[in-house]
Amino acid sequence: MIEISNVTKTYYGDGVGFQALRGVTFTIHEGEFIAIMGPSGCGKSTLMHILGCLDTPTNGAYFLDGKDVSIMSDDELADIRKDKIGFVFQAFNLLRRTTVLRNVMLPLVYANVGRKERQARAEKALHAAGLETQHFLHLSNQLSGGQMQRVAIARALVNDPKLILADEPTGNLDSKTGAVVLATFQRLNKEHGRTIILITHEQDVAEHAERIIYLKDGLVVDDAKSHKRRIIYHDHH
Ligand SMILES: Nc1ncnc2c1ncn2[C@@H]1O[C@H](COP(=O)(O)OP(=O)(O)OP(=O)(O)O)[C@@H](O)[C@H]1O
Ligand SMILES: [Mg+2]
Repeated sequence: MIEISNVTKTYYGDGVGFQALRGVTFTIHEGEFIAIMGPSGCGKSTLMHILGCLDTPTNGAYFLDGKDVSIMSDDELADIRKDKIGFVFQAFNLLRRTTVLRNVMLPLVYANVGRKERQARAEKALHAAGLETQHFLHLSNQLSGGQMQRVAIARALVNDPKLILADEPTGNLDSKTGAVVLATFQRLNKEHGRTIILITHEQDVAEHAERIIYLKDGLVVDDAKSHKRRIIYHDHH
């Protein structure tokens, strides 16, 4: 599904270039649950932006479903994102004072889906993300952190993406709530067959994935099966 080879990313500020990725190569198959981990500043978010088609590499190739996305225009990248990718961020990024349901329906407005269908798909995504029906009409700023992250996961699911990218999705959650969110990702992977890439700097979090790719100073330093794989999976759902 994903094949990147020798991907580099150089940021240019004040004329001096900084190489955040220095030649990253790996393959990810459909249906895998991967964690990308490494210390702060090692290039995790930079890599996620490239994998998520939010940015292109400076050099190297990125094939997504057999297409080289590293040479695509911004419009072509936007289409790929709309069709194939769902994003979950540390800071949830929900619209405040807007209902849960509307937050999840929003991506479908841009995809020109009719109102009734938008609502039906949003409700389905919220169920898949494990949010109880009683919260659907609450304002997003009236929820707990764990509930907000479920809404954000539902929003990522609503366009039915094959690939879910999550950048520190438990970074703002206490460990118990974080565990529930990680179980949700495990269930989406196992029961719904989504390919999941989870970015974290915490070993404990990474161990919820099946395979861990370690980054350091912009390079892959290890890529291995998660030996202690933590299966919590049953998120009361
Ligand atoms: N837009 C930018 N312009 C210049 N330098 C950048 C830019 N974005 C990131 N960098 C630099 O690239 C390096 C990698 O950043 P990145 O955000 O990918 O790290 P990270 O692994 O996600 O870190 P963290 O765990 O703190 O989120 C850092 O040294 C950072 O300062
Ligand atoms: Mg980051």
